[in-house]
Amino acid sequence: MPAYKPYAYAYFEGEIVPIEKAHISIMTNSLHYGIGIYGGLKAYTDSRSTVIFRLQDHLQRMKNSVDILRFPFKFDIKEVESTIIELSRKNQLEGVTYIRPIVYRSDTMLAPAIEGEYSLAIYMMHMPDYFDSEKGLEVCVSSWRRNSDNAIPPRTKATGGYINSALAIYDAHEAGYDSAIMLDQNGNVSEGAVMNIFLVKKGRIITPSADSDILEGITRKTIIELADEMNIEVTERQVDRSELYTADEVFFTGTAANVTWCKSIDKTEISKNIGPVTEKFVKAFDNLQKTHSQYFTNVA
Ligand SMILES: Cc1ncc(COP(=O)(O)O)c(C=O)c1O
Repeated sequence: MPAYKPYAYAYFEGEIVPIEKAHISIMTNSLHYGIGIYGGLKAYTDSRSTVIFRLQDHLQRMKNSVDILRFPFKFDIKEVESTIIELSRKNQLEGVTYIRPIVYRSDTMLAPAIEGEYSLAIYMMHMPDYFDSEKGLEVCVSSWRRNSDNAIPPRTKATGGYINSALAIYDAHEAGYDSAIMLDQNGNVSEGAVMNIFLVKKGRIITPSADSDILEGITRKTIIELADEMNIEVTERQVDRSELYTADEVFFTGTAANVTWCKSIDKTEISKNIGPVTEKFVKAFDNLQKTHSQYFTNVA
């Protein structure tokens, strides 16, 4: 994983400050217990404009996460939206930018409790491609199970829950794979360690439903909407592990990964090259700014 270059300014403790001033104490509660939720968004800048992809959807998901976890933090979508826009302008974005807002328990009390003080911080990084999209991913099914809705709800994008993804990615890398697919506690396919998963069978697409302990990805939602427009049938349902190995195509979606095709799972080849259905989605996704301007918020 490359170290992405941060932009010069961050939002921290209620104001925009130089990134090197945005530091927390080692006593900060969330550092010890992972009590926080975060978002990951992308902005695209060309010679004419800077736009952010599905900004309101990302902020709504963050607000839902705060509400589900009962953080005593007033997440005002409009306010966070204007802060992100102000920070984007201040940073004079270039090319592809990853935006990382986080709501974290910011006090220094010694207890893993939900009640406490919370703060919003935002920083931004230059982000070229996360995966080499030409190559296709070689993945395994992880022996680690996705944390369940009754443990750390995956739909909340809770910071502490990501040790689960990290364990799966670590084992996958150690075994020579690019990434991992995680099963839920019932043994059904959930998602990639940090991406949603789609299977293509006989020209139709299937993706694990929201009750499979997935993060309900904004890219996943976009693919489902695009499929609908392209008259490609989509089914959201529980997916057995054994269905993976006979899929005609498999692809992953996420803000960092965009739409990335899968070459093999547990060394079983899924496709030699990117499949025709996946390719349609890659192209449609790449063209979104031209075809679906409603998904983009103009910031400059
Ligand atoms: C666990 C997990 N699943 C799926 C996704 C994809 O979600 P999105 O498309 O909203 O980026 C992410 C993205 O960070 C993730 O962390």
